[in-house]
Amino acid sequence: MLFSGKALTVQMLDNGIAELKFDLQGESVNKFNRQTVSEFSQALDAIEAADGVKGVLLTSGKGVFIVGADITEFGDAFSAGAEGVADLMNQNNENINRLEDLPVPTAVAINGYALGGGFEVCLGCDFRVMGEGAKVGLPEVKLGLIPGWGGTVRLPRVVGVDVAAEWIAAGKEQKPAAALEAHAVDAVVPTDKLKDATIKLLERAISGELDYKANREIKKSQIPLNDTEALMAFFTTKAFVGQQAGKNYPSPVAAVESIEQGYKLTRDEALKIEQEKFIFCAQTGTAKSLVGLFLADQAISKVAKGWEKKADKPIERAAVLGAGIMGGGIAYQSAYKGTPIKMKDIDQKGIDLGLNEANKLLSKLVDRKRLTPVKMGEVLNRIEPTLSYDGFDNIDVVVEAVVENPKVKHAVLKEVETKVSEDTVIASNTSTISINHLAEPLSRPENFLGMHFFNPVHKMPLVEVIRGEKTSDSAVARVVAYANKMGKKAIVVRDCPGFLVNRVLFPYFAGFSMLVRDGADFQVVDKVMERWGWPMGPAYLMDVVGIDTGVHAESVMAAGFPDRMGKNFTAASDVMYEAGRYGQKNNKGFYNYEQDKKGRPKKVATEESYELLKPHVAERREFEKDEIIERMMVPMATELARCLEEGIVDSPAEADMALIYGIGFPPFRGGIFAWLDSIGLDEFVKIADKYADLGELYQPTDRMREMAASGITYYGNK
Ligand SMILES: NC(=O)c1ccc[n+]([C@@H]2O[C@H](COP(=O)([O-])OP(=O)(O)OC[C@H]3O[C@@H](n4cnc5c(N)ncnc54)[C@H](O)[C@@H]3O)[C@@H](O)[C@H]2O)c1
Repeated sequence: MLFSGKALTVQMLDNGIAELKFDLQGESVNKFNRQTVSEFSQALDAIEAADGVKGVLLTSGKGVFIVGADITEFGDAFSAGAEGVADLMNQNNENINRLEDLPVPTAVAINGYALGGGFEVCLGCDFRVMGEGAKVGLPEVKLGLIPGWGGTVRLPRVVGVDVAAEWIAAGKEQKPAAALEAHAVDAVVPTDKLKDATIKLLERAISGELDYKANREIKKSQIPLNDTEALMAFFTTKAFVGQQAGKNYPSPVAAVESIEQGYKLTRDEALKIEQEKFIFCAQTGTAKSLVGLFLADQAISKVAKGWEKKADKPIERAAVLGAGIMGGGIAYQSAYKGTPIKMKDIDQKGIDLGLNEANKLLSKLVDRKRLTPVKMGEVLNRIEPTLSYDGFDNIDVVVEAVVENPKVKHAVLKEVETKVSEDTVIASNTSTISINHLAEPLSRPENFLGMHFFNPVHKMPLVEVIRGEKTSDSAVARVVAYANKMGKKAIVVRDCPGFLVNRVLFPYFAGFSMLVRDGADFQVVDKVMERWGWPMGPAYLMDVVGIDTGVHAESVMAAGFPDRMGKNFTAASDVMYEAGRYGQKNNKGFYNYEQDKKGRPKKVATEESYELLKPHVAERREFEKDEIIERMMVPMATELARCLEEGIVDSPAEADMALIYGIGFPPFRGGIFAWLDSIGLDEFVKIADKYADLGELYQPTDRMREMAASGITYYGNK
């Protein structure tokens, strides 16, 4: 053994090949944490000092190769400023350079994921052999960063500028076929033959049959592009990448700039440029937010896994009541992810609609070659449409998704409870009605809870799991396990009208109603909020949700929280509702809707809405952009703080992730609590106080004021 550490070992094989094997103890995957980086240096010392090393083979002792840097180490390093960032980067940059400069050939056997730093170390080798199940990629832009261990330097030298820019700016994982086609790897072989095949390749390099020095030279030299070619390539790529990413996500363009500014330079000079760009990105709010989100996502997944472990019975057979928009979506998702589901409605028309929707979604996947027709058949077979309760005694979970009316829901829930077995869990997909209230007529309320999906079910990652006062842990655990199986992000919250997400969404809509009442143009509000980062502005969102649904939900929320959410004026949404403008569903709401070339609804402005609103709103006037943002966001933020204080949600991280996954809160802002921390609670309180006369929704809580006064933040003072 040349070297033996906690993260990797180096062992001499009989043919003069030193095998450097990454195998991080106590972890299920390999990653570049400080320990691995430091041992990598020591391993290189050992290899450089050893006699008789003819070649070096890199392997992994895990199911993955290396998944990248240890992101939990970023926070401290990034908050230590430029030097802290450089310090985190330098040692591994040196390592990879040393690996590339060894006087013997090197080859890597990529057996599984080689992402970020994991792929960058592969690029430092002379030869790369990939197993059939492996994936490579540089996903740093997803964290608001760029590759920082030579990815923007070596990849363009290996695969060409265009492919490298595309791979890095999109941050996508690449399958073996794509990697081979781009010449990012030299061969793809079955995983069980991977090590032997890589050794054989290395032996050919050792014997001189393959010219490893030529490979190396390419990676260390300028890229052979003339100025015109370069101008064309970089100009168009930057414009395209910039437009795709948007101004709130600067790192994809920074990555292309790193390639551009380094292409005429040698490796070591180009690496310096890359590091400057990396440091710039690491210090943006976007990187801070996205790194925070990555960690929050891991935290919520851990909580959900914890619940899953507690489930005393797996969900093997499901049923959904109501085959409408939501019921159809839930049936599709359950079947697609492997859990058979009965889809019951009282109306054959409903069933036909639900099945059609599932068919449409699956056909799209088949068209895009992401599913075979045989698999599509299998998924459809897992959905059993029915008008009766036959076989319900054999069901593990029933999701109720009938119309949003407490009386109907009470009747349906009571009925289904008599059709299922004693320990079947019954979950309601209600968007607003209190779970405790819905549980009232049930004889087994411990088996009842909320399972709130978002529309469209197949796209929206969040599922709010709502526990009522009497809900048992076992019911929560089983439903979270089912949500996990459906590929959703489950967040467990406590009961109240609107639960977590709608409880804070409707105050935001209230902010919108008051702005329009006071003379704001709804189209301007939409534009400002979209520029702030929301996927759609509030008027457009209301149209997509359905004005009738929105108005109804507003009344439920107003009844639940009359002091804050009751209103004493006719809101713009009420005006649209009265005029029969229900939004996208009937092609007219705040906007009119036409079909675009692909048959998708396209919004167009219409004077009709303005005419309808005129009698109910103040004379149109301009509002400053900041005033619009503040008047929209303060009610949402104060309500979210209330939810945390009341224990509706357990942690700021869960609350932030719920809004990102449920309603598309701008990820680059890291969530509402992260946003409050970034502007400072004292500043937020000052902003909110400016609007005190707009009502209770603009009142920060006492706790927020205390936190502001004592400098406490939601995520801890880092
Ligand atoms: N649409 C959304 O955006 C959305 C989002 C989240 C939650 N929800 C909630 O999901 C539920 C369903 O909403 P939707 O938009 O799918 O409604 P929908 O009107 O599209 O579908 C409701 C379906 O329930 C059927 N139904 C009525 N009574 C029934 C009964 N007794 N047994 C079986 N089926 C019955 C109807 O025939 C209809 O097909 C509501 O509680 C709603 O608040 C809706």
